Amino acid sequence: MGSQFDDRLAIWQTAIYASLAVAYFVLYYFSGTLLFDIIHFLLHKCARSPFRVLRQISKVHSVHHWYFDRHLRYNNRYKLANALTNLPLELSCQLVGSWLSQRALSMVLREDDQGFATAILHLTLCVEVIRVIVVVILEGKDSNHVGYLSVPKDGGWLLVGPEYHSLHHMYPDQFMGSVLRLFDWIMGTSSTLKNKRVTITGVGGALGAAIKKQLECENVESITALRFGVHFDEESVSEDSMKILAKTDILILTHGLRHGDVMKANYETSKRLVEVFSQQRKPRTGRRPTELPEVWYAGSESEMHPSWGNKSLAAYSASKRRFLPFAKSLYASDTVVYRHIVLAAFSSKMGPAIVSADWAAKWTMWWIRRGARYVPVTYTGLAYLHFFKFMFVVKAERSGVRFEIGGQAEVPTSKDGTKGKM
Ligand SMILES: NC(=O)c1ccc[n+]([C@@H]2O[C@H](COP(=O)([O-])OP(=O)(O)OC[C@H]3O[C@@H](n4cnc5c(N)ncnc54)[C@H](OP(=O)(O)O)[C@@H]3O)[C@@H](O)[C@H]2O)c1
Repeated sequence: MGSQFDDRLAIWQTAIYASLAVAYFVLYYFSGTLLFDIIHFLLHKCARSPFRVLRQISKVHSVHHWYFDRHLRYNNRYKLANALTNLPLELSCQLVGSWLSQRALSMVLREDDQGFATAILHLTLCVEVIRVIVVVILEGKDSNHVGYLSVPKDGGWLLVGPEYHSLHHMYPDQFMGSVLRLFDWIMGTSSTLKNKRVTITGVGGALGAAIKKQLECENVESITALRFGVHFDEESVSEDSMKILAKTDILILTHGLRHGDVMKANYETSKRLVEVFSQQRKPRTGRRPTELPEVWYAGSESEMHPSWGNKSLAAYSASKRRFLPFAKSLYASDTVVYRHIVLAAFSSKMGPAIVSADWAAKWTMWWIRRGARYVPVTYTGLAYLHFFKFMFVVKAERSGVRFEIGGQAEVPTSKDGTKGKM
C-alpha cells in the first residue's frame, strides 16, 4: 500500500518537474527571441538614421538582407558576412535575453527551486548555440528563408513561418518578429499597405470616406473609388470597373444600405464584386515575388444579435448574415487574404450612434496593422463573441472563387550578386 503511494507520488513529481522544465524552456527561449526582435527593430531604424555611425552599426544586420534580398534571392557574395556578423548577433541577443529572463525568474522563485531553473537555462543556451551552428552549416538557408516566386497565404497568428518572414525581407520595416509575432502586435508592424493599389466602395458614405482618409496616411500606391450607380448597380458591374479590378491589390467593400432592398445592396452586389475581382485580377509582373490579393468586407454586429421584432433590422441582419458562408469560403481560400470587419453601430446616414465612422475606421486599421483577418471594431463586446460563431459555427459555402496567384513556390535560388537595400 505504502509503496504504491510512493510510486504515484514519484510519477506526480516527475510530471510536475517535466511541465516546469517545458515552461522554463519556453520562457527563456522566447525571451531570447524577443530581445533579438527589439535589437532587430532598432537596427532597422539605425539604417535610416542621418548619423553615419548608426548607419554603419546597422550593417551588422543589413548584410542579412543583402544576402537574402527583397526578391527573396540569395546573393552568395554576402554568405560569409551573414555568417560572421548577423548570425552571431542573433545568437548573442538570444543568449542575453534568455539569461535576463532567468534572472527575473530567480527573483520570484524559492532558493530550493533555483538550481532546477538554472539547469533548464543551461539547456536552453545549449539549444540556442546548436541551432545557430546548424544554420551556419546550412549557409543561413533555414526554414524561414524560402525563395518564393509567389508568397503563399500565411495561415498562422502566433508563430513566425516562412510566409511571414518572406514579407519581412520584401518590406524590411515590417514583420519584424523572428519566432513570435508578439513584437509586431505591440508595434503594429504585422501587415503593410505599401505600394498597394486599393479599390474601395461606399466612399460616398461615412465608413468608406473614413477608411479612405486612413489609407491616405499609408504608403498605398493608389486609391480608386467604385461608386454605386456609376461603376456598379444592383444587377451588374461596368466594364470600367472590370478594368480597375484587374489592377487592384486590395478590394474594400464598405457600401451598403440600411433600408430598402438590403439583400441586393449588402449581399448580392458585394458577392458579385468579389467574383468579378477574382475573374479579372491579374498578379503583378516583375522581379518581385507576387503577393496574394486582399478583400476587406464591412460586416456588422447585427450578424450576431437578434432583431428584437424590428422588421427592418431583421431584413438588414439577414442580408449581412447571408454573406457569411461566402465570407468564410474567402477566409479559408489559399488564393486570397480575406478580412472580415465586424462593426458596432457608428454614426452615419444609417443612423446616429455614440461613436463616429472615424473612430470605426481608426480601430479597423489598428487591428489590420496587427495582421487581424477577423477585425472586431466594437464597444459592446459582441464582435468578440461573434468571432467564435464566425470561426466555429459558420460553414463555408462551396464557392468557385479562385484568384490567379502568379508564380509557383520554388526552392531558394542563388547568385546574381546585386546589393539589395535593407
Ligand atoms: N452605420 C453603422 O452603424 C454600421 C454598423 C455596422 C456595419 N455597417 C456597415 O458598414 C458599411 C458602411 O456603412 P455606412 O454607415 O458608412 O453607410 P452610409 O453612410 O449609409 O453609406 C453607404 C454608401 O453605400 C453606397 N450605396 C448607397 N446605396 C447603395 C445601394 N443601393 N447599393 C450599394 N451601395 C449603395 C453609397 O456610396 P457611393 O455613393 O460611394 O457608392 C453610400 O454612401 C455598410 O456595409 C454597413 O452595413 C454600418
